[in-house]
Amino acid sequence: MSSIQRPAQLLKTVSSRVLASTAPTADGKMSHQRVVHTTRPQVSYFTKVTGQPYPQSWFTTRRLSLAAQTLQQVLTAKQHPVVATSVLHSQDVNDAIRVEFADGSTSDLSHLWLRDNCQCEKCYSKSAQGRISLLKNLDLNTHPIHVQEVPNGSITVEWNDGHISEFSGEWLHQRAFNPTSRQKRRSQYALKKVPWGGDFRPKQFDYYNMLKDNQQLLDWHLAMERDGFTLIRNAPDKDVAGPELIEHIAVVKQSHYGPHSPVVVRADANNIAWTNSELGLHNDLAQYEYMAGIIFIHCKHQHVGSGGESLVSDGLYAAEELRRHHPEAFKLLTTTDNYYWDKGVANLPWEQDEFFKIARMPVIKLDNNQEVIQVAVNNAVRDSYLDLPAHKVKQFYEAMKMYNDILYENAITFKMAEGDIIVLDNIRCLHGRLGYEAHSTRHLESSYLDWDEARCRRRRLQEKLGVE
Ligand SMILES: [Fe+2]
Ligand SMILES: [Zn+2]
Repeated sequence: MSSIQRPAQLLKTVSSRVLASTAPTADGKMSHQRVVHTTRPQVSYFTKVTGQPYPQSWFTTRRLSLAAQTLQQVLTAKQHPVVATSVLHSQDVNDAIRVEFADGSTSDLSHLWLRDNCQCEKCYSKSAQGRISLLKNLDLNTHPIHVQEVPNGSITVEWNDGHISEFSGEWLHQRAFNPTSRQKRRSQYALKKVPWGGDFRPKQFDYYNMLKDNQQLLDWHLAMERDGFTLIRNAPDKDVAGPELIEHIAVVKQSHYGPHSPVVVRADANNIAWTNSELGLHNDLAQYEYMAGIIFIHCKHQHVGSGGESLVSDGLYAAEELRRHHPEAFKLLTTTDNYYWDKGVANLPWEQDEFFKIARMPVIKLDNNQEVIQVAVNNAVRDSYLDLPAHKVKQFYEAMKMYNDILYENAITFKMAEGDIIVLDNIRCLHGRLGYEAHSTRHLESSYLDWDEARCRRRRLQEKLGVE
């Protein structure tokens, strides 16, 4: 059946074909045998939402000769072979249509949900992949007056307002309200994070392989979502090696420090990172409400001699440790906001002339499922203003220090080699460095990518490479 047929035409065509063998059952209700490529008979029940059968006049009573019926069944089966996602059977239950797919899975599809997601060209723009219909026009009492399975595995629904929708079996199967489909969408949204401790070693990738091999790039994405920490080797010796790789992935996330930031010792540093001091474990840009999702730290020149080692710790692992062993401290850090701020003027030509950022967030941010979705640890930009009653201040410091201690206990320390880029989930993993001599040629470059862009690229790569 051509997909460009209008639903009304489609329903008409289907009715005369599928309902051809309709006959009353022993209890007087109407049922029909669906023409499908299967060994067991499939029975459909078309009942009103009240549970009453539709009046007999709804159904075509035309009867075909046995030979004609057989011929028709053979032709239909040839035209539309049943696939795993074909709807074999549908039944109206309360406020939903219960469908059974050819793979044996079932789902109750709410009337409201179906009507809201009508795929016809009046309700949905295929080119924009978005709803044209408006929520304000959705009738909360919408219900079907006729549901019909179609030989191509889809169903058509005629609604009480006369509107007709068609839903393909594949489309419904993907969105089925069962644990498998819901889990699939969850991992398409974001992959599961696996917390790690001090014995973790990041997965390594080659800079040029990531540029030329999509499978390598996808593997990197998967590792980043899972571990939040990867090591890329053999980056070229140029300041924009990080941004160039980010642009191959998606787009650079800029900050008031521009598209990339040289981490070197600078006179009149407008950020503590641009001194030779030790840097505590931190995320970059905690002064942004919408903190950069991923940080690329490229080592162009390493400090020779002792000092300049990098530290990385998994904020997720530490948060789970805190939740397990110190639930009170965990509660405090998830329910108390800190301010993080940054005020200054440009040091470099590509920086914003002047800036004054203030962000407000808890040290550990949870989602509605109580999962850790972000941590904010940055002693340099943590504000001196505290929006707390005076008597709660000490408890809050105790909790912050407890979390910080766990981060350090489980950190890994290493010295980056020239050409290395460490990439961190910046809202999950914290990084720091040991201090080094002031007159050092150590030169790192930081640049950022957002999670929205990274996950977007990962999903497209999965589609291109046919990986679920
Ligand atoms: Fe940093
Ligand atoms: Zn529609």
